[in-house]
Amino acid sequence: MIGGTLAHLISIKELADVVLFDVVEGLAKGKALDIAQSTSISGSNINLTGTSNYEDTKNSDLIIITAGIPRRPGMSRDDLLETNLKIIKQVAEGIKKTSPKAFVICITNPLDVIVMALQKYSGLPTNMVVGMAGILDSSRFKYFLSQELKVPVKNIDSLVLGGHGDTMVPMPNQTKINGKSLDEIIKKAKLDPIIERTRKGGAEIGKLLQKASAFYAPAASGIEMAESYIKDLKKTLPCAAYLNGEYGVSNLYAGVPVIIGKNGVEKIVQINLSDLEKKQFDISVKAVKDLYKAAKNIDKDL
Ligand code: 2OP
Repeated sequence: MIGGTLAHLISIKELADVVLFDVVEGLAKGKALDIAQSTSISGSNINLTGTSNYEDTKNSDLIIITAGIPRRPGMSRDDLLETNLKIIKQVAEGIKKTSPKAFVICITNPLDVIVMALQKYSGLPTNMVVGMAGILDSSRFKYFLSQELKVPVKNIDSLVLGGHGDTMVPMPNQTKINGKSLDEIIKKAKLDPIIERTRKGGAEIGKLLQKASAFYAPAASGIEMAESYIKDLKKTLPCAAYLNGEYGVSNLYAGVPVIIGKNGVEKIVQINLSDLEKKQFDISVKAVKDLYKAAKNIDKDL
């Protein structure tokens, strides 16, 4: 469901021509046709097509990957590892053959390990392969804070870093509400459940939907990254990026603030973490590392 929603948002924002791809014959074509038929109402002058053939996606500038099975109620993102690794291997090979110069945004879970596998399988430069998670997690955190504090979401600045799993790290010290720091505004007893709800934000929606996982907010998050790349906005956004020593992490993808512009991930932004934030970040990175080890046991090519 994220792919179609992405295409719809791209169409409404007139960001780019879109080729929707799915291995299921007819699915991408049907969605593309449906969205294309809305362009005379939205007034968007873009071209939308659907396909199940990689050749039709040849020389794409930007690829957003949502391929893979979603979680069912009760599953963690990590439970998807084995199946989604196989799927991502095929996708990576398709991209390598047809669009090796593309900027690739991955949304498939378990995010940090899948984006790492995608980079390895495709051989694309690390600055051109990035994962979507931090924007979504930060957006959930900000939304829950806005509900609790009765403050418009746009007055809240915040960050969620680390891996996109149950150990993700919402950062109260990096959070400002109307310029004020969070500890001036909310008590720990009220903040802790919000942090927990953010960590379980995807599962909460999956439980409600039963047969799908979240898609509106994940798609909106992917679009923010895509737009920064297409328009060279150089926005600082929390994303799963390849770390090569930054934040004390090497040869691993994890959620950190990055600058996205026309050259892909142009910079990893280093912010000062408090001792507690650093400790929690390290725990989250360890969870990603452990899962990557499990991935290597599944596929020796990694
Ligand atoms: C989420 O809803 C899709 O992982 C994603 O958290």
